[in-house]
Amino acid sequence: MKNITTPLKKLFYLWRRSQVPIKQPIKISKIDNLIIFLICILISIISSYKLLLIAPLNLSNIFSWLFKFTETLISSGILILISKKENSTITSRQIILVTSFLLAVQAAKLAFASTISPLSTIIPPALIISQGMGSITALTWVSIASLSWPDPAIPIDNNLFFITLVCASVVSVLGGRIRSRAQLLQLSIFVPIGALLSQWILIGRNEIFSDCLILAIVMLFTILSIPIFESIFGLLTKARLLELADKEKPLIRRLSLEAPGTFEHTLLICGLAEEATRMIGGDIDLIKTGALYHDVGKLHAPNWFIENQDGSKNPHDEIDDPFKSAEVLQAHVDEGLKYARKSRLPKPIANFIPEHQGTLKMGYFFHKANEKNLKVNENDFRYKGPVPQSKETAILMLADGCEAALRAMNINASDDEALETISKIIFSRQNDGQLVDSDLSKGEIFLIKRAFLNVWKRIRHRRIQYPTTKNNTFS
Ligand SMILES: [Fe+2]
Ligand SMILES: [Fe+2]
Repeated sequence: MKNITTPLKKLFYLWRRSQVPIKQPIKISKIDNLIIFLICILISIISSYKLLLIAPLNLSNIFSWLFKFTETLISSGILILISKKENSTITSRQIILVTSFLLAVQAAKLAFASTISPLSTIIPPALIISQGMGSITALTWVSIASLSWPDPAIPIDNNLFFITLVCASVVSVLGGRIRSRAQLLQLSIFVPIGALLSQWILIGRNEIFSDCLILAIVMLFTILSIPIFESIFGLLTKARLLELADKEKPLIRRLSLEAPGTFEHTLLICGLAEEATRMIGGDIDLIKTGALYHDVGKLHAPNWFIENQDGSKNPHDEIDDPFKSAEVLQAHVDEGLKYARKSRLPKPIANFIPEHQGTLKMGYFFHKANEKNLKVNENDFRYKGPVPQSKETAILMLADGCEAALRAMNINASDDEALETISKIIFSRQNDGQLVDSDLSKGEIFLIKRAFLNVWKRIRHRRIQYPTTKNNTFS
């Protein structure tokens, strides 16, 4: 019997280790939950109340009302669940936005169903949702908004319904990938043209031209209003991410001038993190921007960090107080968050600041305090956290840990030696419980190690001196 249970135990252990760790649910306050619930109830009432107005009211009408009401309520719940799944850092404001859009569309269908084409009511919100919250959330929203009609008395043209669904789906998929405002403008021209042509072929009514013209105008206004939605609801669009990643931004310029060592470290981390994120299929634009800002807090005292010391005196040696030194290290997180607030950095970017350090131990100063026989509480020498809450912030933590080791590595070191160094650092972070909330699976961690190794190979290649002959001016 023992012979069977041991391999079974081993199999169970291996299976458990291969599973993604369970993540804490997103915290939303009670008041926000109540507001979201009330919006969902309102959507359900608007979508179904007309079924109760049919005279004479009989039991089957009440049943069909109840069915419609529950169906819409469940659909709204599914929309919220999917948006939470796709956006790990979603806020209650963003859930309120997405449900309010549904409420507005259902109300617009009731008020203007016979006068305004569904193209102009469904496509613009889909564009905003796909830009700020991703394609899957937008596609879910589009399917609920297209399928649920509050007024069954209005005959819906099947062809128009089909065209709306296709155009809104195209906008949802492309909207999540678009990386510049120029591409958005192109979308606002090509989608109405596409809708015009398909309506002309499938429907051929006179008013199709005005329908598509209204759609183009509404889409243009939507694009103009996206920055307002970004600031009010904290939406993080690709265009906003790329704007923030501009190295001419004042905070990044300051970092390059006042803390050049940290700036160099940041650039190398961007390379490591980008490669690893590409390997696991994460959000590359998010991590590139997050990596750029992760250590801005070091601007409060650049020369206290080794990369900026340039051979000059180390202030930590001068004060010779491990507790004070640990405070200075923690301050680079606290001050970083202050800089983030001042520069109005979106929350998903600001999250990189505390999460890249997690609750890591400041090993060097902890060791020093122990050496001095001081009364040491390990928590005084740990960052305040939280540990990485997303795959991207976890990758940044791992890249941050590996950067110095890879930079210092001997140019003649083999790939196996580099991989061993990377694996050791990543294993120590895992062992310390830093990755438990990050959703990174074992397979993804394996890919991250490979990605870091690829970047190391690139660095080594750059550092190899090529023999050049005199007067050799061609390249
Ligand atoms: Fe840091
Ligand atoms: Fe760093």
